[in-house]
Amino acid sequence: MAKKVRASVPAKVILFGEHFVVYGKRALATAINQRLAVEVSDREEDGYHVKIENIPTFGLELDLEGGARRAYPYKDYGSATKAVAYVKESIAYLEERYGLNRGGVEIEIKSEIPLSAGLGSSAATCVATIAALKEYFGLSGDLEAIRNDAHHVELTVQGAASPIDTAISTYGGYVLIERNEVKRLPLAGLDLIVGCIGSIPLNMGTKKASEIGLKTKRVVEEVKKRKENFNAIFDYIFDAADEITAQAIKAIEAKDFVNLGALMYINHGLLDAIGVVPGRLSELVKVSQALGALGAKVTGAGGLNEMGGVGSVIVLPNESGARIKTALDIAGALVMDVKTGEGGLKLETDF
Ligand code: MEV
Repeated sequence: MAKKVRASVPAKVILFGEHFVVYGKRALATAINQRLAVEVSDREEDGYHVKIENIPTFGLELDLEGGARRAYPYKDYGSATKAVAYVKESIAYLEERYGLNRGGVEIEIKSEIPLSAGLGSSAATCVATIAALKEYFGLSGDLEAIRNDAHHVELTVQGAASPIDTAISTYGGYVLIERNEVKRLPLAGLDLIVGCIGSIPLNMGTKKASEIGLKTKRVVEEVKKRKENFNAIFDYIFDAADEITAQAIKAIEAKDFVNLGALMYINHGLLDAIGVVPGRLSELVKVSQALGALGAKVTGAGGLNEMGGVGSVIVLPNESGARIKTALDIAGALVMDVKTGEGGLKLETDF
């Protein structure tokens, strides 16, 4: 049994097809160069001790059974408890499925991925925790099994999830999801800007703010309600979204960034039509467009005004990328330059 294991996985952005993928339409996602690492090592006392450091948001240290020992500067404690839920469920699942014989285990999570931002922090937590624990306990490191285990845990915690996030965190690169099947695509990397609204408006109150941990679930439910109300219209929107993903793959292959950007704006318009573009994210896309971005759109679950409008956008910049970043920053976003196509799960032992 290895004494110390580190599993590192990438964050994801969905380039095209979020939400529509839940209904079997095509979606294209890619890994980005923001990573989350889980380190597992021996501990003298029995039980699991977990330390979570989310670099953009918070830190938290706790005994899984005993509760929090220390919370250090954070903006978003509700999201901290959400991260813990994924770690707890990963352990429970592995114990049940593989009959792990636990002693004292130290788990340390360090993440560069902002939370509740649509960048796949939950899936990254599941994949890296499961991969690190399986390696630590001498179980098989088969990637497809790790992906399946992590997807199972995400489903248990969230109630609903497509395989897209766990596939990207496991495999990296680009992944096309079609009728729930995962296909890896060999596409070249893109330089994008991510703008992330992570802060909760001060007037929201703590109860509402803590619900944001379950934002994806809520937003997916809202889309379902709206779809039931406008079913015939939504069928056209969903078919259009499916075709956008197919054309976008061709545009990336042909390095046709003008068409790729145009497809991003169209996809964004469809996301707005199904009700997942809150005012704060809409503003980020509009400001990018006004400054000449080739394309911009909401990525991931998007958001809802009544949930504080938190979420992320991706921007395909033109030569005025620096001005776009300044404008996004002024509009209140956490701004990151990202490269797509990042590598997937990396495991190290006794480093
Ligand atoms: C969330 O990252 C993406 C959604 O399409 C939900 C899912 O695919 O599970 C909104």
